[in-house]
Amino acid sequence: MRKSMGVVVASVVGLAFAAGVAVAAEKDIKTPRVPAAELQKAKDMKNPLQPTPDNIAKGKAVFEGKGTCFTCHGNTGKGDGPAGAALDPSPRNFANPEFHKVRTPGEMFWVIKNGSPGTGMISYNPAMISDEETWQVILYERSLGGEK
Ligand code: HEC
Repeated sequence: MRKSMGVVVASVVGLAFAAGVAVAAEKDIKTPRVPAAELQKAKDMKNPLQPTPDNIAKGKAVFEGKGTCFTCHGNTGKGDGPAGAALDPSPRNFANPEFHKVRTPGEMFWVIKNGSPGTGMISYNPAMISDEETWQVILYERSLGGEK
């Protein structure tokens, strides 16, 4: 009896441990997040701001401040923030240059405005940040991947 209880406890603990360490993956970067009907319009949107050190610094302040982006996307934008740990798909890793090659700033703007349906990425504009702050934070996120 004692022995079989021990086995049961061990396997329950083992399962909990396995569930705890299962790290969700990012969703494929090649799948656009903007619905097909709006995709071309989003891609055509240009960031009205230049990637100057000043605008990138303002974007960093939004990312780490009122936007609360860092809580999920992580302090260095790698998608490893504590609030994102349980999310499936995982928060986007902005330090990945490949992401910025397939995604345009306009598509990022669309997601920050509308959210990414079916994921933990909700709309932050206009509830928390303005259009100008959105373009600033996009400049910062792209700078993390070495992009403009
Ligand atoms: C509650 C957690 C959370 C917070 C806070 C958060 N995000 Fe996200 N974000 C996510 C997740 C999860 C994804 C992945 C969604 C997907 O794969 O479609 C994501 C994806 C994105 C994407 C990329 C979507 C794509 O095209 O692949 C952008 C851009 C983005 N977030 C910007 C921001 C900005 C800017 C902020 C702050 C204003 C922010 N996020 C705050 C969870 C979060």
